[in-house]
Amino acid sequence: MSSPDITEPRILVLASGNGSNLQALIEATNSRDFPGSIIAVGCNQPRAFALERAAQAAIETFVVDHTEFDTRPAFEAALKAHIDRHAPDLIVLAGFMRILTDDFVRHYHGKMLNIHPSLLPRYTGLNTHQRALDAGDAIHGVTVHFVTENLDGGPAVAQAEVLIAADDTVTTLTEKVRVKEHLLYPIVVRWFCEGRLHLDGDRPLFDGLPLETPTYLPDDAG
Ligand code: GAR
Repeated sequence: MSSPDITEPRILVLASGNGSNLQALIEATNSRDFPGSIIAVGCNQPRAFALERAAQAAIETFVVDHTEFDTRPAFEAALKAHIDRHAPDLIVLAGFMRILTDDFVRHYHGKMLNIHPSLLPRYTGLNTHQRALDAGDAIHGVTVHFVTENLDGGPAVAQAEVLIAADDTVTTLTEKVRVKEHLLYPIVVRWFCEGRLHLDGDRPLFDGLPLETPTYLPDDAG
């Protein structure tokens, strides 16, 4: 594999588990015209499959195991040291399942994105697919947002929807949403790397204009 172009935006991905979104980003950034490179992948779970995916792609990895720290700030100080050593332009949370302190989030203001498996502001937190089914929702989906101090509440940049069928289960809905996640996250990361997407205070700007409502990929978009 050729070494990344150091003038390109440097993307650092944090993950905790399977890393299917990481895989989608690896595949997207491997394309010749993608304007950014994944320079490192960090995990809080030493056995996360995401680490294997990164190794397969010859991407540098690091592990900061949260169970080895007595406090959240101590864990985050170690994590921050690893991240800052790589001087990323963008930090992409891809299934990184740790709650982050306000200090940590503020340190990376405007350069940290998250993907969340619901149409925020509905269903922050966990078990989003079950909650959408329990509520009898007809539409569910995924949101990419800038990370701010509000858990799963930072300004949304883009959403993609899925239609819930009468016979959907958590398993089928997870799979439907996952397909959209893998489509949506590389698009938003590309926008950021192209310099089209910024956070101005708490307001996302796209091509310099306020992004009043998230870009919305309807269910038939792919
Ligand atoms: C994804 O569904 C992502 O939206 C979710 O974790 C999963 C990770 O899957 N993130 C959150 O719930 C964050 N609040 P992956 O490891 O296969 O990419």
